Amino acid sequence: MTTPKTSYPKLPRVASSGDLVLDRRRDWAMAASADGFHQAAAEIYEQILERAPFWAMAWFELGQAREKLGDRPGAIAAFESAAARDPDGLLAADLRLAALGARPTPAAPSASYIAGLFDQYAANFDQHLQEMLEYRGPALLRAAMEGACDKLDRPFHFDLVHDLGCGTGLMGHEIWRDCDVMNGVDLSPKMIEAAQKTGCYHTLQAGDVVEYLNAAPAAQAALVIAADVFVYLGDLAPVFAASARALEPGGLFVFSVQSGEGADFSVGDDMRYAHSADYLLELAALNGLSMMSLEKVSTRKDSGAPVPGLVVVMGR
Ligand SMILES: C[S@@+](CC[C@H](N)C(=O)[O-])C[C@H]1O[C@@H](n2cnc3c(N)ncnc32)[C@H](O)[C@@H]1O
Repeated sequence: MTTPKTSYPKLPRVASSGDLVLDRRRDWAMAASADGFHQAAAEIYEQILERAPFWAMAWFELGQAREKLGDRPGAIAAFESAAARDPDGLLAADLRLAALGARPTPAAPSASYIAGLFDQYAANFDQHLQEMLEYRGPALLRAAMEGACDKLDRPFHFDLVHDLGCGTGLMGHEIWRDCDVMNGVDLSPKMIEAAQKTGCYHTLQAGDVVEYLNAAPAAQAALVIAADVFVYLGDLAPVFAASARALEPGGLFVFSVQSGEGADFSVGDDMRYAHSADYLLELAALNGLSMMSLEKVSTRKDSGAPVPGLVVVMGR
């Protein structure tokens, strides 16, 4: 059966317009962008969109090209067009619009954006993060936890652990020998598949961290840990409340964030959230958590420069 040209499937079309010629033109536009020819790229996208105005991805990439050209109003218009054609938020145009100051900062990106992003990334994640971005989150979080355990004069051993946004298992691999039961959760099924292969986890679940924690038994976890995950969550109030609920008295809540100033949380050009230290302190107080250490440290680089961050240990 042939599909008539007009019966396009429901939006958004992410990787394809459904028309091979337009898809090929998008390849040219992407190549032009990669070589720094943003004007040429923008013109190709504009031509594509005359024929395929439904193509959310092309609107999004036009927005990126216009941003590179310093055309803020044009970029905003293109990202708004992408958002309007992407009801599931697969492209997270709302994050770009927030970064441009054109929309309020969303509380969180859509689950479909996070799952799609990390499903694509899963196969190369460890190599890219550790070699290109010099990611050292797991070692830094472990060192901060060791410091907290020394202060508390308690052994570095945890009965029940929840690894939030476990990804491929880099954090779990760093501490699994010191845990009796370590469970992981992640929105990306492909990251979960990779974590499974480490053999470090007792259970792994594809899902959202807050839903997962709220379904976990209350007051039983010795450790709730989230390495480089809260950069994908703006409003941390729900995950703080859910973590405090899951932790046993004396349990540790350990995580990293990108540092932000002023606002409780904001979205940067990198589409990641940054959080202020005052906001973390406020949420700790609201949830009966005490601050044990808050260290200014960078867990990774971006374009060769260290990204300012915080590594935090709180106690229940
Ligand atoms: C940068 S990776 C970090 C993975 C791992 N913790 C590590 O240190 O290597 C962020 C992970 O958080 C997951 N994630 C982001 N938001 C999430 C959410 N709301 N619920 C569950 N997982 C989430 C992503 O799918 C991704 O695998």
